Amino acid sequence: SSPRPFIVAIDGPAGAGKSTASRLLAARLGFAMVDTGAIYRTVALAATRGGVALDDDPALGALLPRLDLRFAPPAAAGGVARVFLGDDEVTAEIRTPPMSLGASKVSARPVVRAGLLDLQRRLATAPGNRGAVLEGRDIGTVVFPDADAKFFLVATAEERARRRHAELQAKGDPSSFDEVLADQRKRDKDDSEREIAPLKPADDAVVVDTSGAPLEAVVETLAREVEVRMGRG
Ligand code: DC
Repeated sequence: SSPRPFIVAIDGPAGAGKSTASRLLAARLGFAMVDTGAIYRTVALAATRGGVALDDDPALGALLPRLDLRFAPPAAAGGVARVFLGDDEVTAEIRTPPMSLGASKVSARPVVRAGLLDLQRRLATAPGNRGAVLEGRDIGTVVFPDADAKFFLVATAEERARRRHAELQAKGDPSSFDEVLADQRKRDKDDSEREIAPLKPADDAVVVDTSGAPLEAVVETLAREVEVRMGRG
């Protein structure tokens, strides 16, 4: 039997630059990319559409096995993976501020976290993957505690909010910088204070501060580290 794919865990708070860095790193290494935040976001959307309260554990538990979530390649090279809920493309809708808050809420429910473990592991180890880059909050601590390389990206709160705000503005979202910063503070607090899988670096994670660092330099740092661990550094 072939060994399991090389697993790269990239965790950290919202806006630390995980998404873009993960995407570029996966492309550079020829690895699959698993955006686990998109999974929590899609659960929040499915619950909202189904009239399920985001803290209704029994109803969330019933919804998960029926969650018809599918990823498809980006519409344009280098873009984000497309996300489908059934036949419906939800790529943009899951990125709206209400779904950011919704994802944070459902992600605090143990029934949801446990119910998504298998899906995350299957996506990463799918046949044909040489390796996988997983981006999230608890990849190195819970989903793949034995990951081959673990990173924890951090940046100052202002820098992270500035990036989020620019992203939202580019999409025509009218949220102000102060609103984005306030939302982010709330999510950071909820994500790091929750009892189950709180946001914290794994003991063996490499902490990378991306404040003021050019994206290329961040990706270079991650790629070097991965290459060392793959035995070709
Ligand atoms: O990375 P993101 O902003 O798309 O994540 C959305 C929410 O999902 C975020 O508030 C935290 C949660 N999340 C999580 O708890 N665990 C993960 N592995 C990924 C995301």
